[in-house]
Amino acid sequence: MQSEPRRQPANLALIGFMGTGKTSVGRLLAEQLHFQFLDTDEMIQSRTGRTIADIFAQEGETTFRQLEHQVLQDLATRKKTVISTGGGLPTNAENLAALKAFALVVCLWASPEKIWERVKNQSHRPLLQTGDPQKKIREMLELRAPFYRQADVLVNTDARSPRAVAQQVALQFKLATRAKP
Ligand code: S3P
Repeated sequence: MQSEPRRQPANLALIGFMGTGKTSVGRLLAEQLHFQFLDTDEMIQSRTGRTIADIFAQEGETTFRQLEHQVLQDLATRKKTVISTGGGLPTNAENLAALKAFALVVCLWASPEKIWERVKNQSHRPLLQTGDPQKKIREMLELRAPFYRQADVLVNTDARSPRAVAQQVALQFKLATRAKP
């Protein structure tokens, strides 16, 4: 019987809902693996010279999603990079397929309650600036779960520190990329 060829991803991508710790875990992972660290939101901000909130407010979410898609295309040739993605990026099937082509895709998962605990004192996320952000989190998480579940690896972050999550993800990456016997 022929086994499927093993993927040898050169990069590691973190996907997941807002507030699941992608950026802090990503930075720790990059240190541990001696990889570079890139964050798609930071790339968009430095390319446009504007904050994500400004882009949403002045041009709307559609323009933001186009910028997100463009940034991702430019990452395809990277090696040894940990990429932290905006929470909505993998909800575009093309984006998710592109990520999988050049990275091991790891989803950081958290319950709506934990997400709320982590984001409630922050104000930089336009999608959560609503009258009932807790309801919005529950609704969006449910809609996005089918995309997040397509990750190669899913890690629950509810009861783990960013450091513990980073260690677990680093182990998964090493297992996924170790040389074939
Ligand atoms: C978004 C998540 C944000 C940012 C933008 C939209 C989303 O990134 O890309 O506000 O659609 O979930 P984080 O997941 O890093 O907060």
